[in-house]
Amino acid sequence: MAAAITGVGAGLGVSCSSKISQGNSSGSLRYSVKMTVSVEEKKKNFTLKKSEEAFNVAKELMPGGVNSPVRAFKSVGGQPIVFDTVKGSRIRDIDGNEYIDYVGSWGPAIIGHADDEGSVIPVLPHLPSTVLAALAETMKKGTSFGAPCLLENVLAEMVISAVPSIEMVRFVNSGTEACMGVVRLARAFTARPKIIKFEGCYHGHANSFLVQAGSGVATLGLPDSPGVPKGATVDTLTAPFNDISAVENLFKTHQGEIAAIILEPVVGNSGFIAPNPDFLNAIRQLTKEHNALLIFDEVMTGFRLSYGGAQEYFGITPDLTTLGKIIGGGLPVGAYGGKREIMEMVAPAGPMYQAGTLSGNPLAMTAGIHTLKRLQEPGTYEYLNKITNELIQGILDVGKKAGHAICGGYIGGMFGFFFTEGPVNNFADAKKSDTAKFARFYRGMLEEGVYLAPSQFEAGFTSLAHTSEDIQLTIAAAEKVLKQI
Ligand SMILES: Cc1ncc(COP(=O)(O)O)c(C=O)c1O
Repeated sequence: MAAAITGVGAGLGVSCSSKISQGNSSGSLRYSVKMTVSVEEKKKNFTLKKSEEAFNVAKELMPGGVNSPVRAFKSVGGQPIVFDTVKGSRIRDIDGNEYIDYVGSWGPAIIGHADDEGSVIPVLPHLPSTVLAALAETMKKGTSFGAPCLLENVLAEMVISAVPSIEMVRFVNSGTEACMGVVRLARAFTARPKIIKFEGCYHGHANSFLVQAGSGVATLGLPDSPGVPKGATVDTLTAPFNDISAVENLFKTHQGEIAAIILEPVVGNSGFIAPNPDFLNAIRQLTKEHNALLIFDEVMTGFRLSYGGAQEYFGITPDLTTLGKIIGGGLPVGAYGGKREIMEMVAPAGPMYQAGTLSGNPLAMTAGIHTLKRLQEPGTYEYLNKITNELIQGILDVGKKAGHAICGGYIGGMFGFFFTEGPVNNFADAKKSDTAKFARFYRGMLEEGVYLAPSQFEAGFTSLAHTSEDIQLTIAAAEKVLKQI
């Protein structure tokens, strides 16, 4: 895979040039975006003036100036950056600053932004081989049918053959929708009311999940949200991640009432937290013993830790799974799926109602199909593991050398680190991290041309477009900043 990767290869002290240039099969359709940066020049000219102006306007138009809270930079200070272009491993703002991007649109961009490597889909020979060109071709036929299309079958087959637990799938438009749907399904199937979730795990913003939630809820320090009626959360039980005896106690106290456990098998929404070796196994056993369902929320981990997600990586098969992000290749998407006998309860095959005007729309399906196709190429996950290992080891090494308490980890293309000795096994441990130090680190890295998630409580993501050179530049930047903070 490494050989197939022609990332932008530039950054500090180097001049960078990359080009989005692709055509449809007749070669008539072309996009061209050039990214060229000399970093000395970049540092000299570093200004966020245009971003600041645009964000000041945005604040008058949209709550907090953003359309999703964690984008608002509340926990790292300063104003969010307003972006203009993405390409490969790079993201460029409206002031012309370019950054190595470890947010990847919060996960979807695993093959790199605006991919132009491409791969042919045998069952769709008429489609050009890259995400952007295939989208343009699909768009010629219209943007939404509100009716079945062939592309849904193709992506459904790809998802079913990749993810061990999924025998049937329902596409929706976001991870939130997927999690809402899957919990309704678990309750319908078991005829039980309660679910168990873990502190610091985020399953979207549906009422029943806004209890001890991660992501923006954690970042902004919101314990719950006003507007969520008590009735919506009385059936949501919580336990600390990695704490199997807390889960056993919940099953004892609520005998015969628990429909399902839902969890992020590797937490990404309180920062990166891996499960202890026996935790997932024990949860699988407990759910079986109590006739409850096990739901892996793989909106983040699906196709990111390995092609078959966390369940393939750890060899633990849940009953139901949610997906999002990567399977839409950067367009709005979500999905839930699982055992056929459970999925056949979903309307119109069965009585559990769930629907969506734009669900399975041809554009999201096209971007998803092409993204998964690239991920199927040999060596993909070995490459992601290699560069992400290099990155996290490098950051931890320079952090320790500079005298900081720091710990972290990675799997596949997902990583995170905390400013604490660790180990970090759950949300309470994550909250011991020095978030003021993280904020200083964050601001320093931005000025060095590295864009991380603007919160200590979010995982980072690498992509096939990140080169070893990107990683080395990032470590060099971290070394410099960590000496100063
Ligand atoms: C594990 C997990 N579940 C659900 C969601 C919600 O997905 P969306 O933002 O697409 O609604 C997210 C979003 O980050 C997530 O990480």
